[in-house]
Amino acid sequence: MKDVYILGIESSCDETSISIVKNGYQEIATTVLTQMDTHARYGGVVPEIASRMHTENITMVLEDVLNKAHMRVSDVDAIAVTYAPGLLGSLLVGVEFAKVLAFVYDKPLIATHHIAGHIYANNLVKKITFPTLALVVSGGHTELVVMEDDYKFKVLGTTLDDAIGESFDKVARVLDLPYPGGPNVEKYALKGQPTYDLPIPMNNNELNFSYSGLKSAVINLVHNEHQRGREIRKYDLACSFQTVAIDELIRKTRLALDQLPIKSLIVAGGVSANNYLREELAKLCRELDVELSIPPLKYCTDNATMIACAAYPQYLKGDFSGLDLSAKSQAYFFENAE
Ligand code: KG4
Ligand code: ZN
Repeated sequence: MKDVYILGIESSCDETSISIVKNGYQEIATTVLTQMDTHARYGGVVPEIASRMHTENITMVLEDVLNKAHMRVSDVDAIAVTYAPGLLGSLLVGVEFAKVLAFVYDKPLIATHHIAGHIYANNLVKKITFPTLALVVSGGHTELVVMEDDYKFKVLGTTLDDAIGESFDKVARVLDLPYPGGPNVEKYALKGQPTYDLPIPMNNNELNFSYSGLKSAVINLVHNEHQRGREIRKYDLACSFQTVAIDELIRKTRLALDQLPIKSLIVAGGVSANNYLREELAKLCRELDVELSIPPLKYCTDNATMIACAAYPQYLKGDFSGLDLSAKSQAYFFENAE
């Protein structure tokens, strides 16, 4: 079969990224331009600034990738772009840019979901074999799903309220940690001990998750200590929160693996950058003799390589979009799953 080169574009939050990937797993070249330092000054992503910076930088990012790949846009087989979810203004920059490229170079346009990107980043490590269990942990998702085939999912458990990444971000905020929240909670946790007593999120044997109770417990504890004029031991509280939050992921992943005749686990989403999670999953999989795949750190944070990977099965199916494609700020990835 002829090799397929897909040019992927990602601009859903504060990274402008473009990548060219061959056959859904072989990275040819990628550029990621992060705006993190700019937003850190404001304590979080400022949507208006994010979209303006994407607009200013996206052409340069494209030129950089093409130079590194020694390719032209006319050499690729399709243009893929993250269409959802994310900041609308940021997504629109990528989507409109992708549409222009598809129109001018007469290439098929592929609308790819950001979470599909995080899942298919696993193909950069080793081709996903089906069926596999996927643990999806991001700012908007906390799921255990069986992946039966490309884009064929069965949701075993999901969050009943907050997503795990969201709870990391909120805890970072009450602890006054700088942006980005999740990675900074991890940094603080490394220097602390789990000495605060926090409630276990959903102490039962279902596969669903709940993180709002844990988040509220942290917020209440901080307020109560402030009212009593007592200092919060931030390192210890970050560590206590991270331990309870991640241990719950491990406990439920174990429950799912115990119930299933599946011997492989893939991990997806921004929270998979967390080292405590990575270590605990490695231990669990060694114990249960399950093959574990977690993308390397650079593919766990937002990048276009994963988008070009996720677009490949769409390309093979002919799942193309018209030039009327629009961006969506919210779209639950497993909406149509069983
Ligand atoms: O997958 P992702 O890009 O989220 C969405 O697109 O929704 O992941 C971003 C989330 C944020 O909530 C961020 O705080 C969290 O992943 N995150 C982490 C770490 N790195 C990113 N959470 C815990 N530990 C980390 N090292
Ligand atoms: Zn992401």
